Amino acid sequence: MTYRIGYGEDAHQLETGRPLWLGGLEIADSPHGAVAHSDGDALLHCLSDALLSSISSGDIGMHFSDTDPQWKGVSSEHILKHCLNRVLEQGYTPVNVAAVVTLDRPKLGPLRDALISRVAELLQMSVQDVGLTFKTSEGLAPNHIQARATLLLEHP
Ligand code: C5P
Ligand code: MG
Repeated sequence: MTYRIGYGEDAHQLETGRPLWLGGLEIADSPHGAVAHSDGDALLHCLSDALLSSISSGDIGMHFSDTDPQWKGVSSEHILKHCLNRVLEQGYTPVNVAAVVTLDRPKLGPLRDALISRVAELLQMSVQDVGLTFKTSEGLAPNHIQARATLLLEHP
């Protein structure tokens, strides 16, 4: 068995009146959402970079340039599936994922199970193999969302 680890990060400014997308879900009743070229889903973007970094295949900016009009508004689920396919075609499968979202508002704890289910479905994993933790910035970055993820891959 061969193992590889991957790591990714993403951050976005938040603005009132925009939808907040996270882990492929639109977060209801959020006071703000990401300012972004795409849907600004920081969790799916950092997971996508973690997948690419695990197989040393660059990052999502290389695969989906944010200055290329063809990718304007591209869904983060599409990006994640593209990155997962790059890993799968090399014979690797994800073993487990650990991700952290730093966000002051809204509270994400009540959505943990829903977010884990969606991320697990998108990565073709079991919910037991997806760990999501949430942190506030303690008021240091109230208009900001940050997500970080690490994952382990195995190759039989
Ligand atoms: O950042 P802090 O240590 O204060 O977070 C404490 C708790 O708040 C954690 O249990 C975390 O899951 C929860 N939390 C949350 N939603 C956020 C940020 C933190 O539910 N947006
Ligand atoms: Mg704390």
